[in-house]
Amino acid sequence: MAETAQLRIGDKTFELPIIEGTEGERAIDITNLRRDAGVITLDPGYANTGSCQSAITFIDGDRGILRYRGIEIEDLAANSTFLEVAYLLVYGHLPTTAEFDAFTDSITFHTMIHEDFKRFFGAMPKDAHPMAACSAAIGALATFYPDSLDPRDPRQVEISVHRLIAKFPTMAAYSYKHSIGQPFMYPRNDLGYVANFLYMLFGTPCEEYEVDPVIKKAIHLLLILHADHEQNCSTSTVRIVGSSMVNLFSAISAGIQALWGPSHGGANQAVIEMLAAIRDQGLTAKEFVEKAKRGDESVRLMGFGHRVYKNFDPRMKIIKKACSDVLDKLGTRTKLLEIAMELEEIALKDDYFVSRKLYPNVDFYSGVIYNAIGTPSNLFTALFALGRLPGWIAQWMELHADPQFKIGRPRQIYTGPTLTAYTPIENR
Ligand code: ACO
Repeated sequence: MAETAQLRIGDKTFELPIIEGTEGERAIDITNLRRDAGVITLDPGYANTGSCQSAITFIDGDRGILRYRGIEIEDLAANSTFLEVAYLLVYGHLPTTAEFDAFTDSITFHTMIHEDFKRFFGAMPKDAHPMAACSAAIGALATFYPDSLDPRDPRQVEISVHRLIAKFPTMAAYSYKHSIGQPFMYPRNDLGYVANFLYMLFGTPCEEYEVDPVIKKAIHLLLILHADHEQNCSTSTVRIVGSSMVNLFSAISAGIQALWGPSHGGANQAVIEMLAAIRDQGLTAKEFVEKAKRGDESVRLMGFGHRVYKNFDPRMKIIKKACSDVLDKLGTRTKLLEIAMELEEIALKDDYFVSRKLYPNVDFYSGVIYNAIGTPSNLFTALFALGRLPGWIAQWMELHADPQFKIGRPRQIYTGPTLTAYTPIENR
């Protein structure tokens, strides 16, 4: 007989099924608890709540394990490319050569955006944050492709998926070019996915742009490491927005907004700003760590701490090494890297961080690489979003294929006034 948990409320006992995942994670299924017992569960921040069963990404936060579709992140980082990882996440398996060629071709030939879309970027203020611009632009794709918005039509979904993966780099690059007053660069289909993105970002019509292989490799790596991370804030946003049966573009647009926050993906920009402030104010790393320990939410050690990783973030280990390699190869070992390494060393020995299990996360070193290759800090989170895109898409598709599909709609415990009569304005 399947194992159950028992819950006693007053003199009644309720049997609750236990669900077990393929890696032995266990959950108590409370689907019918309110119906049977008249109570709900309360879990602010969902720290102990599973919102779905998912076959995409496995994380063991205590052992520092991250796998996409069963494959270790270290393995993918060493051997794969971003587009191959995108395929793996979206289609559920590594592609054959024929499958990968067809996928790459389709992505390559959807990179252009509608010519009228240029005016969309042109209409934004010069200092528009690329995350706001990208979220708006992705949402606006629904206006250009009204023929492919049905979340339950497999052909419409597939074309939207390919369009998104193909056009996001073009849109991110356009938002950047607009902010610096340079002409938009049309995508070049003779270049690969990452090389083309770098060309659209840093190329100009006036001279040849040569893609530096060191930079290209670093971007592939960073995109792979960011490609999925199970039910984090932005992914949960994509799922809950998607559960209203809205189209894929709208759900992804919402995910981009969620990612922008400094507690989530926006931390990569916040880290570099923190490092620059420490440098510019002449603070020592020790002085800053002391500030971050005061428990004031506005001065946290950005890039430290994670809801799930309570030992180490495996992505950070890979990025830290890549960061050192890239900066060495480019010959640009920066003061910012030095400060980051000092901060890490001090915090990892400090009881405040140790006792709270706060370790550097994926964002701690990524910004140092982006910075070293000449990316402006307000574009960092858009690069994270580009990496996370296949994960969001895969999660959205899985949501729609779930036999238990339901609109996402949490409950609450009401704590406001009890029944109160309306008071006319003259009597207040
Ligand atoms: N610096 C200083 N103190 C911290 C930090 C930090 N970076 N992170 C957590 N703490 C402290 C909190 O003040 C709290 O202390 P207390 O118990 O004395 O009150 C304790 O550690 C637990 O912190 P919570 O905020 O409750 O932990 P939670 O799991 O909710 O938050 C989060 C995780 C949001 C990532 C948090 O660690 C944080 O704000 N980090 C900095 C921002 C950051 O790097 N975000 C990127 C995360 S990775 C990603 O989303 C891609």
